[in-house]
Amino acid sequence: MPKLFAPPATTWAMDGREVDLLHYIYSRPDVKELRGNPHKVLVAIDEYVDKHQVLMNIGATKGAFISDLIAARKPSTMIELGGYVGYSAILFGDAVRAHGGKQYLSIENNPEMAAVANQLLDLAGLRDFVRIIVGSSDESLEELIEQKKIDRIELIFIDHWQELYLPDLWLLEQLDVLVPQTSVFVADNIIMPGAPKYLKWVEATPEQKREMLAGLDVGTRRPDPSWVYETQVSKFDTTWGKDAVAVTKVVGRQ
Ligand SMILES: C[S@@+](CC[C@H](N)C(=O)[O-])C[C@H]1O[C@@H](n2cnc3c(N)ncnc32)[C@H](O)[C@@H]1O
Repeated sequence: MPKLFAPPATTWAMDGREVDLLHYIYSRPDVKELRGNPHKVLVAIDEYVDKHQVLMNIGATKGAFISDLIAARKPSTMIELGGYVGYSAILFGDAVRAHGGKQYLSIENNPEMAAVANQLLDLAGLRDFVRIIVGSSDESLEELIEQKKIDRIELIFIDHWQELYLPDLWLLEQLDVLVPQTSVFVADNIIMPGAPKYLKWVEATPEQKREMLAGLDVGTRRPDPSWVYETQVSKFDTTWGKDAVAVTKVVGRQ
């Protein structure tokens, strides 16, 4: 029967390998030892990648860098855009919980990926702490804010499709949830495949952004160029090649 609703599979993701990962994990002889142990679940996912097929999870190096950021900022709520099989949700959800946080919200628009992530989070003992929201990042963020489930951005991990990074940041700018000296955005895959428009925006001054807006198609978004950001790009060698993570702090308005 043809798939009518599922997004097209690629040669490197969403071709059945994510469900295969679940079978691999749940058929391991040591599966009972994984229960309630986020670290062991992550090691088991890494072993699947080493022995079987690649998965687009945040790697160990970039993962450790972001975990350090969580330890430093201790967010009460952390949000991620793009959950995939839940690797980063397990790693960062565990870190947020360990540092006294309240919740980790992971927005994933593919229900199949969300189902896989929920099973792995359940195994890791994080199902009560990490909530997977099935939906597109923009609509889900709007809903969370409208329903007052979040009233500010503390730490947001941006890791869905790179062309959505900037429109989703513009959405946050217009929804009045950015707080100077509090809000931080962490964007992955800055070099590979790259998010040049996003990077240009978060590195620009308000004056430069006002000039940029004249030549930009912003669709229905209402970007706010008055926000002052401070962005640091950290480069990493990953199994896929060279990449970078951009950490942007909201400084104030001008
Ligand atoms: C790179 S993967 C995320 C990897 C994950 N953060 C990790 O490190 O384990 C990107 C994910 O973003 C999801 N995605 C793509 N567009 C999205 C959107 N508009 N809203 C929510 N999720 C989206 C894809 O389905 C995919 O699962």
